[in-house]
Amino acid sequence: MTDFNIYVSTNEVPRSALDLMRAVGKVRVFDGAAAPPRDLLLKEVAGADALFCVLTEKVDAELFARAAKLKAVANMAVGFDNIDLAEATRKGVMVTNTPDVLTETTADATMALVLAAARRIAEGDRLIRRGGWKLRWSPMMMVGHDVYGKTLGIYGLGRIGAAVAKRASGFGMKLVYYDSNRNRDLEERLGASYVPFDDLLKEADFLTVHVPLLPSTRKSIGGRQLGLMKKTAYIINTSRGQVIDEASLVRALEEKTIAGAGIDVFEDEPIGPASPIAKLENVVLTPHLASASVETRTEMAMMAARNVVAALKGEVPPNLVNREVLRAGAVPADRGS
Ligand code: GLV
Repeated sequence: MTDFNIYVSTNEVPRSALDLMRAVGKVRVFDGAAAPPRDLLLKEVAGADALFCVLTEKVDAELFARAAKLKAVANMAVGFDNIDLAEATRKGVMVTNTPDVLTETTADATMALVLAAARRIAEGDRLIRRGGWKLRWSPMMMVGHDVYGKTLGIYGLGRIGAAVAKRASGFGMKLVYYDSNRNRDLEERLGASYVPFDDLLKEADFLTVHVPLLPSTRKSIGGRQLGLMKKTAYIINTSRGQVIDEASLVRALEEKTIAGAGIDVFEDEPIGPASPIAKLENVVLTPHLASASVETRTEMAMMAARNVVAALKGEVPPNLVNREVLRAGAVPADRGS
């Protein structure tokens, strides 16, 4: 059992998660501050039985071609758009993610962006720091928009979308949603109404994005869709940057055809001060941190480690995303569930 080789692509995994994996194999951890350079990653996976990685690693056909022994890829993220799932399945490699554990944390961050964008929190902070607060109080200084009583448009009513809906109810918001799978049960429980996508864009005072990145959702919010939104509306994204066409978003924010945005994820991460979106006052930016609480990130690492352990023990990992791989015999039939 301990002959297994496990490669961990980040040195920020808690010891408890590494210890879990050490019980089933030899664990090599990338020893650098950022992500492993591509050639190193390809070299390391060549001898690996399992890869514990994060969303900055591109786990594609080239990687699978190099990784002849690979049995499992455990992504320490709920999203797995960095992994070529079809190719993994073809090669008989199990892919796992970390759902549920980050739902509430991500929903909290989403509401933080709703509030920060609407009430100009980051802009106010910048104003003070640059010495721009001159009058003690004036009637129209830093006025934003109310959140209470407004319509929240939820694009993707999955686990995180639903957790955001619950919070928004507490803020007295009206809830509308669009999802490719209508869920009447959840609608009833949350008090949310289903609307077609274009109506979602037209009705939302705050449009919050919670769809995964798929071919069908990539750039699904572009110039046309932004053009349907109210002039007073805000867009919030804690999902994946590529769901929104960023150049169109920047244009809408510059031309003020929408009021503002709260953005945690970007088309090409990381971004810096030279990025066009970072030059705008009417957007609150955070560096892909929506699930970043100590508790959640620690549990995400533990989950990913448990998935590695299960896969290497020949069990079905708890968070297997490509279940079709079981049919291809990744796990002996009597152990598949
Ligand atoms: C973070 O973006 C995740 O997918 O977990």
